[in-house]
Amino acid sequence: MTHAPKPPRHFINLPDVDPGVLRGIVRRARDLKRLKFSPPQLLSGLTLAMLFDKRSTRTRVSFEVAMKQLGGHTIALSKEESQLGGAESLEATAQVLSRYVDAVMVRMSDHAALSELARHASVPVINAMTDRSHPCQIMASVMTMEERCGRVEGLKVAWFGDFNNVASTYVEAAPLFGYDLVLALPEDLHARVPPGARVTADAGEAAAGADVLVTDTWVSMGQEGKDIAKFWPFQVNAALMARAAPGAMFTHCLPMHEWEEVSEEVAKSPASAIYDEAENRAHVQKAILAWCLEEAGVSVGQRKVDF
Ligand code: CP
Ligand code: NVA
Repeated sequence: MTHAPKPPRHFINLPDVDPGVLRGIVRRARDLKRLKFSPPQLLSGLTLAMLFDKRSTRTRVSFEVAMKQLGGHTIALSKEESQLGGAESLEATAQVLSRYVDAVMVRMSDHAALSELARHASVPVINAMTDRSHPCQIMASVMTMEERCGRVEGLKVAWFGDFNNVASTYVEAAPLFGYDLVLALPEDLHARVPPGARVTADAGEAAAGADVLVTDTWVSMGQEGKDIAKFWPFQVNAALMARAAPGAMFTHCLPMHEWEEVSEEVAKSPASAIYDEAENRAHVQKAILAWCLEEAGVSVGQRKVDF
């Protein structure tokens, strides 16, 4: 009798992963951060392929560092360098990569295309940002909130500016981690926010009593030349921070557009956790990789991690 192979554990949409597992991943990431200078060799001999159709600094470097610190290897390919930039299909690409590597990390504008690639892959696929979401970033942000505030559940998180891929992932993650989210956006973007999420056009109202203030560029990759005039009332600056809870933190996924969505004074203040969050990308991705690979048909044996 033959057994159907277990489906791979993808990390594509946060709501598709059990909230207990997500919290376990953040806990594991904090353990792995403590072991930063003597990392357990959980992924020794394993290889991650990294596909990009957009620029990256943090995602590229943090995934490479995560794999290498845990004993694994990486291969990075831009779309143009691979046959995906020619005529080869997502299906064939997924099938072929699955024969060579143990997991695939993908930064691809088109979320549906990334999901299709995952459907045809027999190894885990990790979403490293699409036009719709950026789950690895929000995992790093949650980890940073826990480090700075001691908890994430019950925190008041206020988002300012554009309603983009990063904002919509904060919306998805709010019920999974139990933080209370308010979005301060220009009026014309309110219709894009999913039902149930709290939205206002009054930045001061959103900032009042907030524990965490967060923003992102007003001009995401691919939107170059966009008119940013309507976003200025949503800049995170000292006046807005003054309305927040005592000891409130500021964060941003980076890269920033200096000094549009955040003032220099706030970005460089002690309240700013931007570089902590950037560092935490590496640690949280180690834990995501370990979870994805735990039951992916590769022998993690001695290296098994308990989520
Ligand atoms: N935050 C983030 O994903 O940065 P990169 O575009 O540099 O990877
Ligand atoms: N919203 C930004 C995030 C970059 C990490 C973009 O899509 O370009």
